[in-house]
Amino acid sequence: MISRKEPYIFLLTPHHMMLWNIEGEIPELLYYGKKKSLSTDWSAYKGTTNRTGVDLRNYMFSQFGGEDYREAYCEIANGNHNEISNFVFKGYRILKEVKFDSPLPFSRNKESIICFDFEDQINQMQLEIYYATFKDVDVISSFSRLINHHDASIFIHRLSSLELDLHAESFKIYTFDGEWARERSRHESLLTCGVFKNQSRTGSSSALHHPLTIVETNEGFYSVNLIYSSNHLTTIELDDYQRGRILTGMNDFMLSYEVKKDEEFLSPEAILTFAKNESELISTHHTFVQKHIVYKEYENAPRPILMNNWEGTYFDFTKDKILEMAKTAKDLGIELFVLDDGWFGHRDNDASSLGDWFDYSSKTGGLASLAKEIHQLGLKFGIWMEPEMISEDSDLFKEHPEYAMKIPHRTPHLHRNQMMLDLANEEVKEFVLDSIRNVLHLTKADYMKWDYNRNFSDVYSTSCPVGEYFHRYILNLYSIFQTIHEEFPHVLIEGCAAGGSRFDLGILFYMPQIWTSDNTDPYDRIRIQTGTSYGYSQASMGAHVSASPNGFTERKSSLETRFNVACGGNLGYELDPTKFTKEEKEKVKAQIAFYKENRILFQFAKTQYFTSYYQNGIGGFITYDEKQKHGFMVITSSTLSPKGQLKIPLLSTKKEYLLKGRDIPYEQVLKGNRITNLSEIFSHIEDQNEEYALYSVMLEIKEY
Ligand code: DGJ
Repeated sequence: MISRKEPYIFLLTPHHMMLWNIEGEIPELLYYGKKKSLSTDWSAYKGTTNRTGVDLRNYMFSQFGGEDYREAYCEIANGNHNEISNFVFKGYRILKEVKFDSPLPFSRNKESIICFDFEDQINQMQLEIYYATFKDVDVISSFSRLINHHDASIFIHRLSSLELDLHAESFKIYTFDGEWARERSRHESLLTCGVFKNQSRTGSSSALHHPLTIVETNEGFYSVNLIYSSNHLTTIELDDYQRGRILTGMNDFMLSYEVKKDEEFLSPEAILTFAKNESELISTHHTFVQKHIVYKEYENAPRPILMNNWEGTYFDFTKDKILEMAKTAKDLGIELFVLDDGWFGHRDNDASSLGDWFDYSSKTGGLASLAKEIHQLGLKFGIWMEPEMISEDSDLFKEHPEYAMKIPHRTPHLHRNQMMLDLANEEVKEFVLDSIRNVLHLTKADYMKWDYNRNFSDVYSTSCPVGEYFHRYILNLYSIFQTIHEEFPHVLIEGCAAGGSRFDLGILFYMPQIWTSDNTDPYDRIRIQTGTSYGYSQASMGAHVSASPNGFTERKSSLETRFNVACGGNLGYELDPTKFTKEEKEKVKAQIAFYKENRILFQFAKTQYFTSYYQNGIGGFITYDEKQKHGFMVITSSTLSPKGQLKIPLLSTKKEYLLKGRDIPYEQVLKGNRITNLSEIFSHIEDQNEEYALYSVMLEIKEY
C-alpha cells in the first residue's frame, strides 16, 4: 500500500515500510524496515552533510556529474554529447497498474504502484522510477523507464533497476555461485570498504554467479534479485564514511543501447526484501515466486511426477526401448513420460542436428505414433528441445549459416559442439517459433523441457549493434516464450540450461518449474537444492531420483535417500526403470503412492532447507503446514552417526511434535525444535551399506 503525508511517501508491505522524503531535488530515503507509526517525528531521520561537506543522505538514485563518485544508478551518453546527467524530481503519480509494450517479465498482482518523475531539462530526457508493493508479502520492487526527447539519440551505458543507499559499518554478503553440476553454493564475503560485484557476462543469469544477492547488516537481511535472465550486475559499495550503496540491474558490460527521439528504454524489475533473519527472508522469496512470478494457474497446481529417459539411455534408444520404459513407468505410478535429447535429425551424440527439429524416424519409429502410444498408456507426454541452438552438422546450418551467432571471418567457439542461434534476427525468431509449433502439434505434447546448453561467446549480429545484443536477444527470447504460452497454454514448460544455469525469476515468469541441476547425486544435490531454496520455492525446482552409483559422481546411495532428497522439489525419476529389481519396483511404487498422497504438502507447504548444512555436514529440509499441523522433514548426513544438534526451522520452541519415520521404524515426541539424538535416529536405517556417501531419514511431523 502507498500512503502519503507530504513531504513523506510511505510504501507499506504487511510488516515493513519504506519512507521517502520528497522535499529535495532527489527523494531521500528516511527509513526502510519494520513498520512504525506513520505519525512518528520523521524529521529526526533526515540525513545531513558532515563537517567536511560530505553528503550523508540516502538518495533514491545517483547520477554522475556532482560530488558523488560512487557507483551510479545511470550512465547515459546524452544528446548533448556528454555523459553527465542532471535529473531533478518533478512529481509523483500513484497508479493502479502499469502496462508496457514489452515482453520483459514483470511481477504479477502488485498491490500499489508509484512512479517518481524526473527530468533532465538540458539533455531533454525523462526518467521514471517505479516502486511497487504487494499485499501479501514483504517485498518492494522497482524498475525504471527512460524516455529521450532530444533530437539526437542517447546511448544507455547503464540503467539500474534499484538503488538502496543505507549506512552500515560493514556488509556481510551472501552470493550463490558455482558451475555446471555445482550450481548455487552459498558464499560469504565481508565488505568493510570498497566495491563488491556480483555479475554475469555469460548472456544468461548463469551458474557462475547467480543474481540473488543477500546483504546482512546489524539491522537485518536485505536481498535483491532481478526478474531477468540475461547478464546481471549487483554492486555493493561501502566507503569510509560508512555510506553503503546496493545497486542492482542488467549488466552494463558491453552495453550501449541507442534510444532515438521519443523512444524509451525499460530496465528489468528488481525485487528488494528485508527480513530480520534468513528464515523469514527465504519464506518471503518462496511466497513471492508462487504468488507474483509464476502463472496464476500454477500457483497451487499439483506438478506431475515424471520419468525422463536421459540418464537411463542418453542418446542410445529405440522406439521399443522407450515404450518398455514408459510401460514400466506407468506401472510404477508415473504420470508423465519425457522423451529427452536424441529424437530429431540424425542426433546420436551431441555433435549434430540442433536446429533440425524433424523426426529421427528410424530411431523413434515415428515420433507422432510414439507420442500417441505413450498417451494411450495413460501417461502424459513430454518432449525435449533446445530451440536456441544450432549444430554445424545440421541441415539448418547448411541452408542458413547466417542464422548462427558468430563473428565474420572468425572461427566460432563451439561449446558442447554447438553454436547459438542469432535470436536478435527476426527471421531466426520466426524459425524458432515455427520449429516449436511443429513439434508440439505433431506430438500433442503436454510438457516441454526447454534446454539451453551453452553460454554466449561470439557475440555479434547483423541485425543490431553489439552494444544492444545481449538485451535484444533476451527480449526476443521472452517474446517467443510469450507466444508459445499463448498458443499452447496447456503445455507445462520446464526450463533447463545444462541443468540449472539459467534458474531465475525471468524464466520462472514464463516456465513455472526449472531443472535444478544435472547433478542428481543426493550428496551434492542436497547442497544445490539448499542454495537454490534461498531464492526459490520447492515447486519451482525439478528434483529426480537417478541410478546408483551416480552416473556423474559415481557415489552410491540407497533408493530411499535418493527419493528423500528428491522430495525437496518436484519429484521425478531419471533412470531406466526396466533395470529395477522386483523389490526395487515395489519400493518405488510405494514411494510414488506416498508422494501422491502428500504431494500438496511437499510442493506447496512452507519449506525450509537446513542451512546448518554449511556448518556441520547435516542437511535436509522441512515442509510443514501450520494450519494442518502436519509436515515432513528429511535429514541427511554423510555418516551414520551424525553428531551435534539440529535446530529445525518452522517448528516452535513452545510446542511438542510427534515424529514418525517414513522409511525407518522410529517414533519420538519432540519438545520444541531441537533434535539432539540424531545418531540414535540414524541407527534405525535398515540399509546401512558402508559404501554410501549419504544417509538420510524422512520423519513425519504432527503437532502433539
Ligand atoms: C542438459 C540437461 O540438463 C539434461 O537434463 C539433458 O536434457 C541434456 N542436456 C540433453 O542433452
